Amino acid sequence: MTQITIQTPDDWHLHFRDGDMLAETVPATARCFQRAVAMPNLVPPVTTADMVSDYKQRILAARPEGSTFEPVMTLFLTNTTSKQDIIDAKAAGALAAKLYPAGATTNSDAAVSRLDGLFPIFEEMQKQGMLLLVHGEVTAHHIDIFDREKEFIDQNMTRIVDAFPDLKVVFEHITTKDAVDFVLAASDNVAATITPQHLLLNRNDMLVGGVRPHYYCLPVLKRNIHQQALRAVVATGNKKFFLGTDSAPHEKDKKENACGCAGCYSAWSAIELYAQVFDELDALDKLEGFASQHGADFYGLPRNTTSITLVKEDWTIPAEITLPNGNPIVPFFGGETCGWKIKD
Ligand code: NCD
Ligand code: ZN
Repeated sequence: MTQITIQTPDDWHLHFRDGDMLAETVPATARCFQRAVAMPNLVPPVTTADMVSDYKQRILAARPEGSTFEPVMTLFLTNTTSKQDIIDAKAAGALAAKLYPAGATTNSDAAVSRLDGLFPIFEEMQKQGMLLLVHGEVTAHHIDIFDREKEFIDQNMTRIVDAFPDLKVVFEHITTKDAVDFVLAASDNVAATITPQHLLLNRNDMLVGGVRPHYYCLPVLKRNIHQQALRAVVATGNKKFFLGTDSAPHEKDKKENACGCAGCYSAWSAIELYAQVFDELDALDKLEGFASQHGADFYGLPRNTTSITLVKEDWTIPAEITLPNGNPIVPFFGGETCGWKIKD
């Protein structure tokens, strides 16, 4: 196959950031995605209904002229989130709330340190039909970084889904065979997003022959067997797995640093790179489900009625982009060749 037309895709997990960064990130995503779930890990985080509404307005204001792109808004859960916060955020249009274990990732210091304290909140979310999005990693210092997702499943994920069978839970940006198996064995109320980097790469790609900071994200890339498990499951077309780029911009000097930030800014090439992966897997017929259908169905939203066409054609992803503030950023796979392209 050298060309494929699919219903317009959605991105079920990304980071737009805020302020003048929106002038870069919103158009880059709106170029091919109809909707995107906007992560709430701003500084300060999006913890109230008013913050949800205001952030939504700022994203809408950054859309290119004539764009019908729609952000899907989320609330950031903290130790002090109340049931009323859930009710108000839902009324303000938040479809989901995000659970970050404190310290798990970028701007998550304000996040949850006592998971059990949130169970009444999960109960309210279940009642309100609000989705729970989970960054599934434990943060205890003594747990090896490569084991943190599996530990989270054993310590927390199992407990949450058992206690709230009617709560829709998205296990975000899964990276391990353990997470694939967990989601497959769970009820239909449990699904997962998968990023382009975790399908394309494993930890050797990041570490052999030198450290590649632009491949560093959280959860960190795992060993090859885990990458293969992710690739295998998307090739089956299983409806529990869908597209979430986790596109997460950080300026170049924050990535190329003695203590580099976690996050891959993939908005410039994500759908094309997913197409490349599905092509490699000889599963291009499964791309539309993954990119454009399973996520909408899980969120209970209508599928998009427009379409995009991708062609099998090499192009070079820009090596560097200049942000509105004048600082450079290196997009994911910057300077590398991508084998699929959006048809103009
Ligand atoms: C994200 C970011 O930079 O906000 N970073 C990342 O490596 N994925 C946070 C996150 O999704 O964990
Ligand atoms: Zn993320």
